[in-house]
Formats: sequence, structure tokens, C-alpha cells
Amino acid sequence: MSTSLTTHIASNGVATLTLNRPERHNAFDDGLIVELTEALQALAENPAARVVVLAATGKSFSAGADLGWMKRMASYGEAENLADARKLAQLMHVLDTLPKPTVAAVQGPAYGGGVGLLACCDMVFAAPEAMLALTEVKLGLIPAVISPYVVRKIGSSHARRYFLSAERFTPETALRIGLVHEIAPQDEVSPLAHSWAAQLLINGPASMQAAKQLVAEVADRPICGELNEHCAQRIARQRVSPEGQEGLTAFLEKRPPNWVTQ
Ligand code: COA
Repeated sequence: MSTSLTTHIASNGVATLTLNRPERHNAFDDGLIVELTEALQALAENPAARVVVLAATGKSFSAGADLGWMKRMASYGEAENLADARKLAQLMHVLDTLPKPTVAAVQGPAYGGGVGLLACCDMVFAAPEAMLALTEVKLGLIPAVISPYVVRKIGSSHARRYFLSAERFTPETALRIGLVHEIAPQDEVSPLAHSWAAQLLINGPASMQAAKQLVAEVADRPICGELNEHCAQRIARQRVSPEGQEGLTAFLEKRPPNWVTQ
């Protein structure tokens, strides 16, 4: 069993995935990529997990791709490299589309793919120590697989600057450009992320899943009759859903809805 990644599911439904490779600054190689993907897929299927916190041990949140592994891969052919890169692409996709809320607790620096992980989470809390950088071009690489998520999050103007400069930027800058949602002292980042995760438990699980999909469906689309119709259909479907019915009834009956367990 790996020690590079730990999973803990608390009795309240908050699952914590912790990157645990501090001696390599939580850089991810092919093994960790597969483990993280499989752990996320398992949490997606597990009804005991209702919210997922992504955290890390050690000084850094994640130094991105393991450069030793990348160097080894470079000696293989293009086909092997493509198959390998697709695994990282799958990890980003699985995290981005997880049907449960994802909350990142960023206690230290995040580089390259580490920034990609943050761009795929719903809520991101960071410590003042959490410097960020998209360093790929310094290494003769490009932030390719993570680019759809990062560009979507920070927009093409900031992406052009930070992809090309490869400069380190502060969590305050990350906050300003939308990559981080809140900054807290280092020892408070994980408690804050877990406190938010617990607060999310009072929201309807299917509603949060649908709300997350809704953002993906409407983002960057022109507002037109077709989109308005799509949104009308989405709320109509949600109102008649079991969760919509239960939520409205519970409110009118002045009681907690049935998905609130305590
Ligand atoms: N892949 C593999 N190993 C890495 C790594 C990575 N992405 N980042 C750090 N490490 C390793 C170092 O090689 C070093 O190994 P060693 O002890 O065998 O020499 C160990 O982690 C400690 O790193 P070190 O550089 O000595 O620590 P530091 O505190 O001075 O700096 C970082 C930490 C993360 C700032 C620095 O290592 C760094 O810039 N790493 C590259 C990050 C990056 O550009 N990632 C994007 C990849 S696309």
C-alpha cells in the first residue's frame, strides 16, 4: 500500500486526500498520478464521502510533475509519452468533474501541475507561504495538460503572463486572479478548509453536483435564447427532483432537510 497518498473519510462525510511525498515536495510521478486518480474515482462512488478536501504534508503543496520521471519518459518515444501525458490529463479531468465539492488546503508552494490541481478544485484556501508558479518554460516544457483548467480559471491575459514569465507569484496575486479564494495563516489553512467542507454538508448533495455542472455548462457561453432555455430546464428539473422537493418542504415545515444528519 502506498504512503504517497493517504485517504481519510471522517464520520461526518468529509474525505481528506493528503499528498504525502514531502521529501520530493509532493511532486507526482506516474504512480502517484494513477493513485490519485483512482482515489478520486473511489470517493466519487463512495456515499460515505460527501465533500473532498485535497491537502498535502511537508513544506510544499506540490512541486508539480516529478522531473526525474519526466526526464526518464523523455527517453521513450512519442507514443509512450502521449499515453503517459493522457494519464495526467485524466487526473485533471476526474478532479475537475468530481460529482462532489472539492476544497484545497494549500499549506505551501504549488508549481506547474500543482497549480493545475488547484485550478480543478471548487474552493481553494492558501497560506501566505503558498507561492505559485507555472515554471514549465524554464524547463523547456509547456503547461499543456493543465492549461485548459488554468486558463479557464485565471483567463488568457494572466495565463499569457504567467505561462511565459514562469515567475513565482504570491498567494495574494493568486487571490486577485481567481486561483485562490481565501488566505489564512498556515496553521489555520487546513482547519479552515475542513470547516468549509463541513459547512457544505448542509447543502443538498445532488444540488451541489448540479450547480457545479451548471457552472461548466454556462461559463463563457453567449447569453442567448438557447442558453436561457437550457437554464430554465435545469431549474425545472431540479424543482421536481426528490432533493428539490425535500428542500422546499423542509424549509416550509421549518425543519432541517433529510440530508442534514446532525
Ligand atoms: N520533481 C522531482 N523532484 C523534485 C521536484 C520535482 N518537481 N521538486 C523538488 N524535487 C526534489 C529535488 O530534486 C530535491 O531532491 P534531492 O534531495 O534528491 O536533491 C528535493 O526535492 C528537495 O528539493 P530542493 O530543491 O533541494 O528544495 P528547496 O526547498 O530548495 O526547493 C522547490 C523546493 C520545490 C522550490 C524546488 O525544488 C523547485 O523549484 N522544484 C521544481 C518545481 C517545478 O518547477 N515544478 C514544475 C514541474 S513542471
